[in-house]
Amino acid sequence: MKTKIIGIIGCGVVGGGVVNILQNQMKLLRNIGLNIVIKSICVKNLNKKRDFALPKNTKLTSDPDIIIKDKDIDTVIEVMGGVYEAKKVVFDSILNGKNVVTANKALISKHLLEINTLVTENDVQFGYEAAVCGGIPIIHTLQKDLLLDNVTEVSGIINGTTNYILSRISTENIDLDSVIDSAKTLGYAEADPTADIEGYDIRSKLGIISKLAFGHYIPESMIETQGITNIIRDDFLYAKMLNSTIKMIGTSKLVNNRLQTYVSPMLVSNNHNFSQVHGATNIVEIKSDNLESTLLTGEGAGRYPTANSVVSDLISIFMNNSSVPFPKNETFGFEQDYEKCFYVRFIVKDQIGIIKNIGEVCNKYNISIDSIQQLPISDNNYVPFVITTNETNIKNIKSLCVDVNMCDYSQEYPFYMPIY
Ligand SMILES: NC(=O)c1ccc[n+]([C@@H]2O[C@H](COP(=O)([O-])OP(=O)(O)OC[C@H]3O[C@@H](n4cnc5c(N)ncnc54)[C@H](OP(=O)(O)O)[C@@H]3O)[C@@H](O)[C@H]2O)c1
Repeated sequence: MKTKIIGIIGCGVVGGGVVNILQNQMKLLRNIGLNIVIKSICVKNLNKKRDFALPKNTKLTSDPDIIIKDKDIDTVIEVMGGVYEAKKVVFDSILNGKNVVTANKALISKHLLEINTLVTENDVQFGYEAAVCGGIPIIHTLQKDLLLDNVTEVSGIINGTTNYILSRISTENIDLDSVIDSAKTLGYAEADPTADIEGYDIRSKLGIISKLAFGHYIPESMIETQGITNIIRDDFLYAKMLNSTIKMIGTSKLVNNRLQTYVSPMLVSNNHNFSQVHGATNIVEIKSDNLESTLLTGEGAGRYPTANSVVSDLISIFMNNSSVPFPKNETFGFEQDYEKCFYVRFIVKDQIGIIKNIGEVCNKYNISIDSIQQLPISDNNYVPFVITTNETNIKNIKSLCVDVNMCDYSQEYPFYMPIY
């Protein structure tokens, strides 16, 4: 029986789940020869009532150094969140020779290269399965199962908050602000939902996934990111006319040795797997040479799904079965001008010649129109109508939007999204 002594820094939603799982599964752990002892737990407020039972003999502290500098402690679990203090906790733990398991996507995406170097230099193990897509084992899959396969694309619905919001607007025809309010009440959205609804959360996850899948790190600032705030209810009506729905998707694809990595709402056909994923659930599709298509779906957040990923990393470390954090190291070009079919919605003042004019602008930018969609007009001064295009570069679509917006009939800046 191996006895492993750990410390947990931060013990709220995820940390409490980790404590409960480790306490409840002691017998199973013993079956695989492990005795995991939680020596210390660090929290901010020692007087706060806890929703987990503090294990017998576990010390509660508010000083992370009690854990980081404890020579008995083999592995530190960082589930305190934030970047600044968490960085110190994680870096100091590694420098003190401890393995680290973290759920902190914000920290990893910001300091990925430094962490990678530090882990190698200090010969420790580093697990971060919980940091991307909560309970879905996307990290281990890419680190181990698909390591010798050539991954060509990773795409998915990897933010539960926006998927919850878009699913509700789609089925209940309610407006964005009221869904965001109810998402906050139900705990699906943070008090400040900006990172989710503007796509920044997906962008952080995509940076980590891309480094893992392709070996190339793309700084967040290079990942084109469009949030969901410009979507209007009519877009869902048009999506239905096109036998489709709208999903917020992050994608990273290798085309001719160049990475195309972006975050955007996308029009998804009702026949595609992604259209069937509702609420806070996540789904990721990995395309690769050997396995062709691998789909992973499940809970992308929440106490037990996320804590499960944390303990999975812990077991990998203790069973000497963990991978190096980012096994691949490659350099690819980066292509911001990706090619796709697009959905473009205009809001216009009804007048003769608009379609002719938009046709001419499309012609100017070599955009081939696939269809024109028009709901019955209820207000002549506010007419949303849609074109879908054949494959074209996003640069052309942006030029189309700029030109049309300058026309006197345009009432709002046009909205575009790729067709997945
Ligand atoms: N919740 C999820 O579903 C989920 C999913 C995936 C990833 N994550 C990631 O998991 C991490 C933790 O999230 P969470 O939801 O568990 O957060 P949380 O419920 O807010 O818990 C944070 C914990 O850290 C402690 N803490 C904060 N600052 C501290 C400091 N300076 N010193 C010591 N302790 C400190 C807090 O102490 P007090 O309890 O005393 O306030 C609390 O126990 C974050 O990085 C998050 O992004 C969460």
